[in-house]
Amino acid sequence: MRNESLNPEIVPSDLENFVPPTTAATSSHADGTLVDRYGRHITYIRLSITDRCDFRCFYCMAEEMEFLPRDHLLSLEECLRVIRTFVGMGVTKVRITGGEPLVRRNAVWLMREAAKLEGLKELVVTTNGSQLERYATEMVDAGVKRVNISLDTLRADRFRSITRVGELDKVLRGIDTAIAAGFSGIKLNAVMMRGVNDDEFVDLVRFAVDKGIDISFIEEMPLGSVDHPRADTYYSSDDALALLRPHFELRASSESTGGPANYWRIPGTRSKVGFISPHSHNFCDSCNRVRITCKGELYPCLGQNDALALMPVLRNHPRDDAPLRQAIVDSMGIKPKGHDFNEQMQEPKVVRFMSMTGG
Ligand code: 5AD
Ligand code: SF4
Repeated sequence: MRNESLNPEIVPSDLENFVPPTTAATSSHADGTLVDRYGRHITYIRLSITDRCDFRCFYCMAEEMEFLPRDHLLSLEECLRVIRTFVGMGVTKVRITGGEPLVRRNAVWLMREAAKLEGLKELVVTTNGSQLERYATEMVDAGVKRVNISLDTLRADRFRSITRVGELDKVLRGIDTAIAAGFSGIKLNAVMMRGVNDDEFVDLVRFAVDKGIDISFIEEMPLGSVDHPRADTYYSSDDALALLRPHFELRASSESTGGPANYWRIPGTRSKVGFISPHSHNFCDSCNRVRITCKGELYPCLGQNDALALMPVLRNHPRDDAPLRQAIVDSMGIKPKGHDFNEQMQEPKVVRFMSMTGG
């Protein structure tokens, strides 16, 4: 069903949650910055530049994935145009994600060009680490400030079974290269899974401390259908904190990197431990971000199905950014109040995998 009076680019796939877009005047400040219907300022975009990945993590992808043909993706020039337009509308932080962003040819070109944009304070990247040995130094040189590196286990056999095809050693070498390359921050991301890696949380923190980097633990989100029952493997941040406490002195920290993690400092070390708790501590009220997929779909919320297609706007108006800006303003009208992941543990409503929307 589709309401023809709405902007035709908006595809409300979940009409229950759908509230018609407000006018430009109410969803964009007079100064051109982005504010949604709930008064949240949007200052952060996460842009996926490929759905491809050299791993097949079982919580993120099906074993047999069909990837998009090249011509269905935004070109890197179009990605840059999207970033430039958002930065012109007050966005100060951009995260390049995937899939695995570094498997896209010339990904570093995009990073370099984006880093030059005036108004962009922070350019950061999320990666699985497999290509860092090759690219970390170039990325620092291009102006990437921080990287998040996914690491759920330190055991090679387990790493292989989680990623289906990945090689732990390569990622560990990538982490060392990243440390040597001089990023201003490196954070490991570990998805918490009961019975899969919960016996390693202490080791993972110790590893981060030894390397002088940060680590965040993430509650698994019901994105895409996977062949394991997520409710069985669910592990809460509170349980993880209780598990870590006897092993480390954890001091609550008010530090924020503009994200939803709660941080704890370990005195006497350079490391912070963070918890990203989409289930147990919903942080939607302070959401400051939207996501753009590699196909150019703007998803105002990771946990909902509503999206706005930017690709036709980009291609129909190659030299005029006004329609693109208007589409972005319109997207503020479909940014929902929040996700409802807890109700979706058995039956995910969001059929996209993380590799599509961008981690
Ligand atoms: N829930 C939580 N985290 C996920 N990731 C991928 N899929 C999920 C999910 N369903 C994580 C990856 C990586 C980041 C990109 O997102 O492990 O750290
Ligand atoms: Fe690739 Fe990251 Fe998904 Fe694993 S979680 S398959 S590394 S995109």
